[in-house]
Amino acid sequence: FRTLDQLDPAGKRVLLRADLNLPVRDGKITDRTRIDRLVPTIRELADKGAKVIVCSHFDRPKGKRVPEMSLRPMGEALSDALGQPVAFADDCVGPDAEAAVAALKDGGVLLLENTRYHAGEEKNDPALVEGLAKLADIYVNDAFSAAHRAHASTEGVAHKLPAYAGRLMQAELEALDAALGNPQRPVVAIVGGAKVSTKLDLLGNLTKKVDVLVIGGAMANTFLAAQGKSVGKSLQEAEMHETARTIMAEASANGCEILLPEDLVVSEAFAANAPNKVVGLDDVPAEMMALDVGPRTVAVVEDKLENAKTLVWNGPFGAFEIVPFDKATVAVAQAAAALTEAGKLVSIGGGGDTVSALRHAGVIDKLSYVSSAGGAFLEWLEGKTLPGVAALTSH
Ligand code: 3PG
Repeated sequence: FRTLDQLDPAGKRVLLRADLNLPVRDGKITDRTRIDRLVPTIRELADKGAKVIVCSHFDRPKGKRVPEMSLRPMGEALSDALGQPVAFADDCVGPDAEAAVAALKDGGVLLLENTRYHAGEEKNDPALVEGLAKLADIYVNDAFSAAHRAHASTEGVAHKLPAYAGRLMQAELEALDAALGNPQRPVVAIVGGAKVSTKLDLLGNLTKKVDVLVIGGAMANTFLAAQGKSVGKSLQEAEMHETARTIMAEASANGCEILLPEDLVVSEAFAANAPNKVVGLDDVPAEMMALDVGPRTVAVVEDKLENAKTLVWNGPFGAFEIVPFDKATVAVAQAAAALTEAGKLVSIGGGGDTVSALRHAGVIDKLSYVSSAGGAFLEWLEGKTLPGVAALTSH
């Protein structure tokens, strides 16, 4: 794919696909990470004299103009982050958008309204693609986190204009390549989370690609139960036992070592500071549930990391939102951060809960790379082709 290194955008109209699908509560943006990560691309384009036309989806308005899903507040946040005014157009195509683009000066920045206000966005409708392409001379995609969607603004328009990866897209793709595409071995993957059933493809792909697969979170209970351990009241999926055994067999056939918990922190209640104890795998009381992995497991994982060159992390070990069941996640995250800082480990995390878990552990800036993507990171770990990335690489 082509990057901004190959582009002279001076005086050009650049359509920049961003992901401004930010978390919002009570009308307030609660996390600006995606804006902060987008700023370098906009800065670079604007400083080089481009007219920067930013577009994005926000939430899922399903083709309707839902007022609460307007991108207007993101324009203000973007303007704050950039330290320059950001104009706003009430539509992403049509006369309003065209007039706003015509008014842009070199180095100016414009944000277009939510692309998903048009049903054609999710349908990748050629008419919407045409409307977007008309606005610009160049297309830059910086929305890795939306690249699993084959939508008009993420995929379609990349075939209509000369297309480039923005700096964030480039960083994400380079990090992912270092993690699984072309990694230094041994590679350890940590996969946690509640359900085996939602991570089947991911587990299947990782057993083919990594040397050690550490399984944590409630999904580990399913694997333990599948091996005949009694897990008490722990969250698990009884109907997935056979599948869990198949994954283990496939892993072993592929030379991938699966590491399950060796001890567990159990409690009667899923609540902060609930009384708890560490038990071995044969001693989980019938009325208790596992809420974290124990210190022996942490030591084994740390030992694997000491001997690894690359770590890919998706999903916490325990119920990290409630103290003290965050202990294993925090300990392993800090161990990974220390090894990374010492130059011994390339560490990449991402997807859903993982970012909050890593932030909670205080290592968000200490790993080699933490992806800003949720679903796209997961699909990539599943080994799927992301349409938004494929459309860039076809150039
Ligand atoms: C995300 O936040 O993961 C992306 O913006 C994709 O959003 P979507 O799941 O609504 O397509």
